[in-house]
Amino acid sequence: MQMFLDSAKVDEIRHALEMWDIDGLTTNPRHVRDSGRAFRPVIKEIAELFAGTEKPVSVEVNPHLVDWSQIVSQGLELAELSPNFVIKVGASEPGFKAIRELARQGIRTNATLVFTVGQAWHAARAGASYISPFLGWKEQHGDGASELIGEVAEMLDNYSYDAEIIAAAIRNSRQIADAAVAGAHCITASLAVFQESFRNPYTNLGEEIFQNAWDATPEE
Ligand code: E4P
Repeated sequence: MQMFLDSAKVDEIRHALEMWDIDGLTTNPRHVRDSGRAFRPVIKEIAELFAGTEKPVSVEVNPHLVDWSQIVSQGLELAELSPNFVIKVGASEPGFKAIRELARQGIRTNATLVFTVGQAWHAARAGASYISPFLGWKEQHGDGASELIGEVAEMLDNYSYDAEIIAAAIRNSRQIADAAVAGAHCITASLAVFQESFRNPYTNLGEEIFQNAWDATPEE
């Protein structure tokens, strides 16, 4: 399962590239806002961090756009900025039409804000390269999310669609495990969620036990 960082903060992205060799990046309007920077300068700087690699970087079109042709023209303009850019488009009727048109023009897309297998199917049919089911948002609102990835994976497999699943809005290690077991191709989470997933209280306890044993062992 490929590991994508979900962030638009340049210092976080540098850390994740250097320490974890992440396979790609996803951003969204909220992450760009949280970077404290304007959209275009920050995505251009992010593009430089990935230049010369094959790693995908998802950048989202203006979420106010509801006309498919406007989504396509902004998608084309963003795709011009970097060969790493994958255009993130919200799941909707004009969004699926825009995904189809962008795919026809050879532009990779990431269908975002996906909550059902039906939406994932529309995205796959339209030619999306990636489909992002938002597990954390579903659970936050009381819906079970653990089965969604498996069902989307089964749907893609049934019809041999090429799209890859990005398990998105991941909040904890349990969701990382669910996504991996269900066959997600990629997972995207914040720096903090991944950092938390490296740790476990039993590991800390075990380290303390072994350190004590090391210290109590006679020297030669
Ligand atoms: C995925 O591509 C999204 O950017 C992301 O996972 C949304 O989740 P958030 O609530 O963590 O921003």
